[in-house]
Amino acid sequence: MSDSNLAVIVLAAGQGTRMRSATPKLLHPLAGAPVLSHVLATVSALSAGHLLVVVRHERDRIAALVAEDAPGSVIVDQDEVPGTGRAVEQAVDALPGDFDGDVLVVNGDVPLLDPATLERLIERHRSSGAAASLLSAILDDATGYGRIIRGEAERVQRIVEHKDATAEERRVAEINAGVYIFRVAALRAELPRLGTDNAQSEKYVTDVIQALTERGEMVGAHAAEEAWRLEGINDRVQLADAAARLNAEIIRFWQREGVTVQDPATTWIDRDVSLAPDVTVLPGTQILRASVVATGAVIGPDTTLNACEVGENAVVRRSDATLAVIGADTTVGPFAYLRPGTQLADEGTIGTFSETKNAIIGRGSKLAHFNYVGDAELGEGVNLGAGSITANYDGVDKHRTEIGSHSRVASHTVFVAPVRMGDGAYTGAGTVVRKDIPAGALAINVAPQRNMEGWVATHRPGTAADEAAQSASSDR
Ligand code: UD1
Ligand code: CA
Repeated sequence: MSDSNLAVIVLAAGQGTRMRSATPKLLHPLAGAPVLSHVLATVSALSAGHLLVVVRHERDRIAALVAEDAPGSVIVDQDEVPGTGRAVEQAVDALPGDFDGDVLVVNGDVPLLDPATLERLIERHRSSGAAASLLSAILDDATGYGRIIRGEAERVQRIVEHKDATAEERRVAEINAGVYIFRVAALRAELPRLGTDNAQSEKYVTDVIQALTERGEMVGAHAAEEAWRLEGINDRVQLADAAARLNAEIIRFWQREGVTVQDPATTWIDRDVSLAPDVTVLPGTQILRASVVATGAVIGPDTTLNACEVGENAVVRRSDATLAVIGADTTVGPFAYLRPGTQLADEGTIGTFSETKNAIIGRGSKLAHFNYVGDAELGEGVNLGAGSITANYDGVDKHRTEIGSHSRVASHTVFVAPVRMGDGAYTGAGTVVRKDIPAGALAINVAPQRNMEGWVATHRPGTAADEAAQSASSDR
């Protein structure tokens, strides 16, 4: 059920200059999803009656993400007046005039925040009767954050931004997380009056707090149970710290679900991954985007799975796979490279230094050593000999290769596509297949071998080869 007395405003209009990046700060990824996606997922879980997202910098890219992640939300375009205060002011103006509930404001750069922390804030705010309530934390390093200044009887008085703070105020360890809830009437009254007389010449939403307390209103500051969830992302150091923290949480979650993760320190698992109980993840492994791994599978060591589906009891070692389907009871690697469109059916093998792309490989088929299979379809029970490849590219276009079930492809066969090999057919070693092979046929096209007796003695006399050959013949 939606909470019609709650409106959520996400602030996503800022430039994020401290990232020093061509990519907007809020689009930098964390556990496989942009920073802002995490915040949108968290606030969406609250089922607020209104969700508004304020945009400006790289407006179209941010708005596209919002449309995808929070389809029911309203985009508010911030004008040229800078600052979080102006952003909130314009969002409040976009609310229906008769909205009379609470407004939760969340900075778009706080990706570790979770719904439970917000729910506790909303509950405490509503039961306290305060005009505004905010989340606070004691951080080891408060640099850059706004500090909460308390007055008489430890009452919250105001927030001072780091850049505006005196040396004494900077010693305050209690910070403002950029997450607040206000009675809408308080915002409507105070936001239009905010000035820009501060170090950044911006309208600060944090100045609403002082305006309220000066009028005798009560403001609550509630310490979050897990302070780390309030850490904001302003630069790449904070991004990496937050990513590591989130990764550790994700790994603990899967461990409790029955997944063995041998070395959490070198394992990376994205937010949208799904792992079954009794999956084993070995050191140096990344399981990314919406990868799904079934029970009994062993992934790693040193493996990257990017948006892959892995079947039961598959073993994937020291390999790299993207957009690939790996069947049950298969063996992949060590050192295999599965590119998009690879579909390895159950009991198959893609082995050492084999590469596949856009390749459908039937049940029990083996590409065990040094193969390249691209734009191809292999039937069941195919054995592809060491070094055999599909030559799918004629320099201009890509062409398909089909290899029938239970065929035996000898080492170093080259399929010059487009070409078909029928079911149960054979090739000889080194065959260059340029025309179709009927079912059950043996294809060979290498020249007969000639042995030129005594060639080494006449052409390479006195070499180590010559000596070895002479002693071999005298031994006879
Ligand atoms: C802000 C708070 C600070 C708090 C910190 C918590 C203010 C004035 N300061 O500082 O007290 O400790 O967050 O992380 O609010 N944004 C807009 N429009 C703008 C400017 C910013 O939508 O004109 C958005 C940004 O995209 C960002 C969020 O607001 O998602 C916060 O902006 P940022 O510049 O990161 O504020 P901080 O300096 O971190
Ligand atoms: Ca920030």
